[in-house]
Amino acid sequence: MKALILSGGHGTRLRPLTYSQQKQLIPVANKPVLFYAVEDVIEAGIHDIGIIVGPNKDQVIEAVKSVDWDADIEFIYQGEPLGLAHAIKVARDYLGDDDFVMYLGDNILREGIVRHLEHFKKGNFDASILLCEVENPQMFGVAELSEDGRTIKRLIEKPKIPPSNLALVGIYFFKPIVHEAVENIRPSWRNELEITDAIQWIIDHGYKVGWTKVEHWWKDTGKPEDILDANRLILDDIRSDIKVETKARIHGRVIIEEGTQIDESTVIKGPAVIGKNCVIRNAYIGPYTSIGDGCVIENTEVEDSVILEGSEIRNAGRILESLIGRGVKILNSDNHPIGRKLVVGDNSQLML
Ligand code: DAU
Repeated sequence: MKALILSGGHGTRLRPLTYSQQKQLIPVANKPVLFYAVEDVIEAGIHDIGIIVGPNKDQVIEAVKSVDWDADIEFIYQGEPLGLAHAIKVARDYLGDDDFVMYLGDNILREGIVRHLEHFKKGNFDASILLCEVENPQMFGVAELSEDGRTIKRLIEKPKIPPSNLALVGIYFFKPIVHEAVENIRPSWRNELEITDAIQWIIDHGYKVGWTKVEHWWKDTGKPEDILDANRLILDDIRSDIKVETKARIHGRVIIEEGTQIDESTVIKGPAVIGKNCVIRNAYIGPYTSIGDGCVIENTEVEDSVILEGSEIRNAGRILESLIGRGVKILNSDNHPIGRKLVVGDNSQLML
């Protein structure tokens, strides 16, 4: 069994962060989203992993190689993101005739894939998918089940009128028949080779396609609010681990990494994660906040936010529900003329 994890694509809905970095590398609770997929696959006993890389391939390769994984990892260059089924085509040689799990690198599934993999193996399915009840099925691939609910009748990508509220999770199990399917489908209206069409081909040609339902939460981290949501969900499960001496007032579950200095006038309310080598002075760090390595937070309140590494925030009042990129400076100057002085990248959003 192999795994194919997708870490290509442009991530346009996460601009401006994705102008400078690949979307699957954006951290949730200080860990790149992509790493949750790699961990799930290894936990399920799969140690041969191919990672599809695209426009920012060097970043992805460097980030993945910075960890000593219990797996043989190969990188497969896709170039332009021409669809999820196209990624399987590109990985044809790597996958050979092995069964494999395809895992979209921007998905996080709290329960992992062990139970779902067992179902695929025990049922001897040609393909198996994961379904999750959602409130906005038109944003996803959607499944229509048979009347007795046992088999899948139809899969539709982002339907205007969804036949059910069962969204396809971005995790799919396949036998090698999928290679014949991807050779026989045509690009969709969005000019992509859709994985839903490939699975529909497998169903229509009489092969056995199974499904399992997600029991805990699942998140597709495609948009900024999804990153904040995923951050809340992951922080809900953390345990305290404070690796530094500090006289700050700390309540609830908090992780603080080595080298971080926090003065005694700071208050921290978990769940929260603070990375390495940060300086936190006279600040309030509120629930559901993740602060990356090397950040400075001074005379500022931050709550329910994700702040990436190397950012500096001083005298900035109260920051809420915010996603702040790497090396960002948010300062408050007393020099005349007084006013908001901004240098903001393309497609940024500021709520002042
Ligand atoms: O997240 C679940 C959904 O993922 C499913 O419900 C849909 O059926 C499925 O089509 C997919 O929809 P998205 O529109 O969210 O897919 P997106 O284009 O965002 O791509 C998903 C991931 O795969 C993302 O991490 C980028 C990567 N990717 C995407 C394409 C199209 C690639 O690596 N190569 C590609 O060619």
